[in-house]
Amino acid sequence: MNSDDLEDPTDHPLHDWAAKRRAIARSRHWVSPKGPRTRWRKAIFNQALAAFSLGLRLTPLHGRGRRNALDLQQVEMELDLPGLPAAFDGYRLLQLSDTHLDAFPEIAEATHRLLDGLTVDALAITGDVHGNHHAPIDRSTSLLMQALRGLTVTGPRLAILGNHDDVTMAGALARLGFEVLVNRSVTLERGGERLTVTGLDDVHNFYTDAALAALREPGEAFRIALVHSAEMADHAADAGYALYLSGHTHGGQVCLPGGRPLVTQLTRCRHAAVGLWREGRMIGYTSRGLGVSDPPVRFNCRGEVALITLRRARELHRER
Ligand SMILES: [Fe+2]
Repeated sequence: MNSDDLEDPTDHPLHDWAAKRRAIARSRHWVSPKGPRTRWRKAIFNQALAAFSLGLRLTPLHGRGRRNALDLQQVEMELDLPGLPAAFDGYRLLQLSDTHLDAFPEIAEATHRLLDGLTVDALAITGDVHGNHHAPIDRSTSLLMQALRGLTVTGPRLAILGNHDDVTMAGALARLGFEVLVNRSVTLERGGERLTVTGLDDVHNFYTDAALAALREPGEAFRIALVHSAEMADHAADAGYALYLSGHTHGGQVCLPGGRPLVTQLTRCRHAAVGLWREGRMIGYTSRGLGVSDPPVRFNCRGEVALITLRRARELHRER
């Protein structure tokens, strides 16, 4: 989308999408690729979480968990990808996910320190820029820009929405210069070669058939999917995607020693809850996310930014 927002949706190309998403938001159900689910389970979970959060605040563990949440990590990886166009060999993509900076503003400055001076070819924000549904989204976006101020992105700044982002986040991010992918694709060009990046709206709560249709639209031979949660991994692999980037789970946020998540908030594709994974021939990466949701603590699970270098898989270097 361009810098038009959704304030005057009457002739906006995303009008239908916004209307359907708002209808789901007002309904008694969330909708994932698994189908509709009632909200009462989530409501009970949230009540239990609120009680846990309140109890935690009365203990020294709360301060420790907050310090853990500020202890961010820059995860670096090189991914060998069959079919990657040669011109993209060495392409550096920075993934940020689940920034939720309104929920923990100090993470913005910690992120700035981590990213200051870094140069990348592309930036991908994989949803949940916002945290508290009742807070103004400008708070989250201004903190995001504060966090990114020392980062140089020579190519596209891509973004998708998460389940915490409402429809107005699409316009807000577009006004900040992001290419917001709501069930659509964009072509990246480098050295005369091309690849396709397809971005979906959140599918954990706001799945519609438009997401699956966008995933299946024809594009370049090499395709990357950006989806807030891993819940479309099997569909993307079937559609021939080479790489799938997601977040949503926060890596569990509060994990057992060794980093095993207690809760992943996935309705399907649970094998893809954290880190690197495979689905058929497709490689996936699920970020632990930068920020936190309530309670604003982390244990055995660091917040992260992911610096991903795309590499052309060796076997495809051979001349035929
Ligand atoms: Fe999140």
